[in-house]
Amino acid sequence: MKLLDGKVCIVTGAARGIGEAIALKLAEHGANVAFTFVSSSSADKAAALETKLAGLGVKAKAYQSNAADFAACEAFVSDVVKEFGTVDVCVNNAGISKDNLLLRLSPEQWDEVIDVNLKSVYNMTKQVIRPMMKAKAGSIINMSSIVGVRGNAGQASYAASKAGIIGFTKSVALELGSRNVRCNAIAPGFVETDMTHYLKEGAGAEEFLKKIPLGRFGKGEEIADATLFLASGMSSYITGQVLSVCGGLNI
Ligand code: NAI
Repeated sequence: MKLLDGKVCIVTGAARGIGEAIALKLAEHGANVAFTFVSSSSADKAAALETKLAGLGVKAKAYQSNAADFAACEAFVSDVVKEFGTVDVCVNNAGISKDNLLLRLSPEQWDEVIDVNLKSVYNMTKQVIRPMMKAKAGSIINMSSIVGVRGNAGQASYAASKAGIIGFTKSVALELGSRNVRCNAIAPGFVETDMTHYLKEGAGAEEFLKKIPLGRFGKGEEIADATLFLASGMSSYITGQVLSVCGGLNI
């Protein structure tokens, strides 16, 4: 018996990076996976992932949907419930970074990061709790960041969005614990994806690595392992928590 046999899992922003690794991990453990991608340029990658997931013997479907748009999330979750029957797990993974020092951070950059990273979590969670409350079971996993826990120069908007996710997660856990709906956050450190490519390849990368006790960047699969744990019954008595998966990073 696999950890998520027959469970219906949503993953936002899964055409690449950490989201893709999570979709694959959940499917390997028997979950049926509905996932989103936002831009038409990702459609081919999303179609390829859909095929790969289906090859694992589960039901899988890609949806083009903007997580920052409330109405789009409402339509997406409604379509998933029609197609898959319910939602057992929701992984709010979609995110962007627009790094800039506060002196140069424009209101437009601020709004975009808050909308895609934080408002999206509200948009999706608001929708998925309906089927979860009905089933008296559910697990919501929100992708925060170690930067949301500790802050980081040049990332005020990103850090604020990721810290906001933590407050939201803890509040939802308090509201919905009595319905057996759990809500936790993951705080990854620096993970090798397109989002952090510039850090790994850029000047000073060696200095940066010295700050990570495990001495390397994380892999998407390592974030996916933590997600699987929080999605499954292995974490049935855990809610309102922030799980740091950061190699011991202390920034
Ligand atoms: P990525 O840039 O490779 O992937 C992000 C995904 O989100 C992309 O597929 C993108 O198309 C999608 N996305 C962006 N805006 C969207 C929207 N409005 N609606 C739906 N999807 C949208 O980044 P990565 O590294 O895979 O990050 C995934 C999550 O993990 C993000 O929330 C990020 O903030 C978080 N994270 C990443 C870390 C890292 O070191 N890579 C560290 C800590 C957190």
